[in-house]
Amino acid sequence: MDLQNIFTFKTTLLRSIIIIIITFASHTLSLDSKFEACAPRTCGNDLIISYPFWISAEQEPFCGYPNFGITCNDKNPVLTISHYDYIIKDIFYPNTSLLVANSLVYEESCQTPLQNLTLDRTPFNFSSNTDLFIWYNCTENPPQYDTYPINCYSNATLHSFAGFHKDVLVEANYSFESCQSFAYAPVHLDNGVDLASLGSMNYTEILKMGFLLNWTAHSCSNCEASGGRCGFSNNEFVCFCEDRPHLKTCDDGNSSVHSPFFFFCLFLDLVSSFLFALLWLSILWHNSSSIFAILYHIVICYYDSKMLCI
Ligand SMILES: *[C@@H]1O[C@H](CO)[C@@H](O)[C@H](O)[C@H]1NC(C)=O
Ligand SMILES: *[C@@H]1O[C@H](CO)[C@@H](O)[C@H](O)[C@H]1NC(C)=O
Ligand SMILES: *[C@@H]1O[C@H](CO)[C@@H](O)[C@H](O)[C@H]1NC(C)=O
Ligand SMILES: *[C@@H]1O[C@H](CO)[C@@H](O)[C@H](O)[C@H]1NC(C)=O
Ligand SMILES: *[C@@H]1O[C@H](CO)[C@@H](O)[C@H](O)[C@H]1NC(C)=O
Ligand SMILES: *[C@@H]1O[C@H](CO)[C@@H](O)[C@H](O)[C@H]1NC(C)=O
Ligand SMILES: *[C@@H]1O[C@H](CO)[C@@H](O)[C@H](O)[C@H]1NC(C)=O
Ligand SMILES: *[C@@H]1O[C@H](CO)[C@@H](O)[C@H](O)[C@H]1NC(C)=O
Ligand SMILES: *[C@@H]1O[C@H](CO)[C@@H](O)[C@H](O)[C@H]1NC(C)=O
Ligand SMILES: *[C@@H]1O[C@H](CO)[C@@H](O)[C@H](O)[C@H]1NC(C)=O
Repeated sequence: MDLQNIFTFKTTLLRSIIIIIITFASHTLSLDSKFEACAPRTCGNDLIISYPFWISAEQEPFCGYPNFGITCNDKNPVLTISHYDYIIKDIFYPNTSLLVANSLVYEESCQTPLQNLTLDRTPFNFSSNTDLFIWYNCTENPPQYDTYPINCYSNATLHSFAGFHKDVLVEANYSFESCQSFAYAPVHLDNGVDLASLGSMNYTEILKMGFLLNWTAHSCSNCEASGGRCGFSNNEFVCFCEDRPHLKTCDDGNSSVHSPFFFFCLFLDLVSSFLFALLWLSILWHNSSSIFAILYHIVICYYDSKMLCI
């Protein structure tokens, strides 16, 4: 070997070692993929969507519960409950409640809820709301006071209207039998809303105030406090952390259900770093495309086996 050859051999060796170190380091130091997948998102407005909610078009189902999948509609997060769409106006993670409004009331056409919202077999429950009663197609004229006319569902003979105080109508001997159908819509009356301002509103403005629901889900507060993000692995609640999934919190020292694979995964990381280095070298050396192809397939196989580690 002459001097020139030794020189290139040395620089090549040095370069390969550096590449191996860099790829190994970048692999082992990279954040856990599930931790990254479940990063909090938004639909484009200020509202932060995180566990137990997840954006179904953008995130993986393991970031939340199936019933908490959210779609984005023109920057508004939309939750579907019992086949109806509700725009999420606010989410209060500390007391596990959310403020939603029926998406119908934001549409141009005449839209009021014709059905009662039922929360059976959902993880949601009503929480401190006042019911707005809605009567449709009544032949008897409603009293002028304490009621909100729904003009788009009324004509000279059939009247539709809403009201908070059924007892007022009872006292006025109103004949509810003259109405064809009846539904109620929950409304969250903020502390700032008084009776006078309620009286000056119309029914769409009232329904747009929304209503409060609370939810039942495995609490994420301990996991979040330790820097983790909650989600699921094999239908088990886990805390995704920067390094790997944990059972409860990031500092419990207990890795999740996948711990048996941990050393196998570390080994895969080492092998993959080596393969990536070879891949890089074969590109750098302008070696034949067949070697490149073989290495490429090895890397793909590595990624398939790495699925065990996620
Ligand atoms: C949760 O907290 C928010 C903000 O403090 C409050 O507006 C909301 O009423 C609370 N929800 C429940 C169910 O108490
Ligand atoms: C809504 O619930 C009330 C009371 O349970 C019932 O009288 C009414 O018929 C229901 N409305 C509809 C449209 O199902
Ligand atoms: C909703 O609340 C009712 C009564 O407060 C309770 O019986 C029911 O179990 C709750 N449902 C859920 C899903 O929490
Ligand atoms: C939801 O709110 C209702 C009424 O305020 C309450 O009885 C229930 O315990 C709450 N459920 C949860 C899970 O917070
Ligand atoms: C009101 O009456 C009209 C005509 O009879 C009918 O098409 C409509 O479904 C009724 N609306 C309700 C809410 O009952
Ligand atoms: C009111 O609407 C109902 C159902 O759409 C219709 O049968 C009735 O003729 C209408 N009455 C008037 C006065 O337009
Ligand atoms: C309602 O009916 C009762 C008994 O039929 C009657 O005493 C009362 O005056 C009526 N109230 C109104 C406001 O018409
Ligand atoms: C309710 O009031 C708002 C604001 O005054 C108005 O824009 C809207 O058209 C009203 N809706 C109906 C159904 O009258
Ligand atoms: C790991 O989990 C086991 C059983 O759940 C528990 O006994 C142990 O204390 C945990 N280890 C740490 C370091 O928290
Ligand atoms: C691949 O690169 C090495 C190192 O430069 C070289 O010795 C070898 O001949 C190359 N192989 C092919 C097939 O080009």
